[in-house]
Amino acid sequence: GAPVEVDLSSMQPGMLLTVEWRGKPVWILHRTDPMLTLLKRHDSLLLDPQSREPQQPDYAANATRSIKPQYLIVIGLCTHLGCIPTFRSDTTAADLGSDWPGGFYCPCHGSKFDLAGRVFKNVPAPLNLEVPRHEYLNDTRLLIG
Ligand code: FES
Repeated sequence: GAPVEVDLSSMQPGMLLTVEWRGKPVWILHRTDPMLTLLKRHDSLLLDPQSREPQQPDYAANATRSIKPQYLIVIGLCTHLGCIPTFRSDTTAADLGSDWPGGFYCPCHGSKFDLAGRVFKNVPAPLNLEVPRHEYLNDTRLLIG
């Protein structure tokens, strides 16, 4: 499939944008500073907090899983059986338990991912959400693929 170019200039902090690439949904999350702070607080609850799994670009092998900390780019398909997880901000996610700082929740079998797409322990999904190959063409243009 062809690469997809995305204009980020109208994305407000906190906003989630979905684009299609190779027939898959790709999420672009513009993370706020509080969201980035939240990411540092629950490493012990994660399966792979530094995202060392090999099947992803080098620039995803870090705690924010990104080139630019404020932008998360992940494929929006659960790494268990491919359902589409639901985006939950930290406040609406409170009902899922105190271990849950927000992120993405898969309704099919209850897998939880944080705001970097990192999978929590003790859920069916075996891997962090997949980061597709991407690059920034300039400050506001993103190329996926
Ligand atoms: Fe997401 Fe099973 S497909 S938990």
